Amino acid sequence: MKKTSFALPFVLAFVSAGVAGAQSGNEARGERLFNQQCKSCHTVDKDGASPVGPNLHGVIGRKAGTAQGFSFSDAMKGSGIVWDEKTLAEYLKDPKGRVPGTKMVFVGLKQEAQQADLIAFLAKATR
Ligand code: HEC
Repeated sequence: MKKTSFALPFVLAFVSAGVAGAQSGNEARGERLFNQQCKSCHTVDKDGASPVGPNLHGVIGRKAGTAQGFSFSDAMKGSGIVWDEKTLAEYLKDPKGRVPGTKMVFVGLKQEAQQADLIAFLAKATR
């Protein structure tokens, strides 16, 4: 029994590293995607502008619809979402499906690999 309780943390660490590895995207590809698909509406730097959509600095870990200086839709403010890898992927895949009534006009990133790449970029660039 003792052996099992010693081994368990290692097994768990191994499993979660494996999961993170499977999902982790490529930042450089993510940056290109961001420049092509998001930059017209979003900035990522601290105190950056909100040209059409909200500035995304610090977005990961933040409650949806709470960025300063941007007037969000009621749908976004009431969504109850906290942005993390999972909720971002869901929203980016199908914005209007995930947050019905959102005013973000974006068709969606359908490919999981693209979502992962973009989120890898965001995780770094919005920190
Ligand atoms: C045509 C402009 C436009 C494009 C293109 C666009 N967005 Fe948005 N985005 C918005 C608007 C407007 C909102 C606010 C939505 C609301 O209030 O319902 C928003 C909201 C968001 C939010 C929620 C922010 C928060 O603080 O709650 C995230 C995250 C986001 N966009 C990421 C992206 C990413 C990543 C891309 C590129 C794949 C992208 N957006 C493309 C306009 C855009």
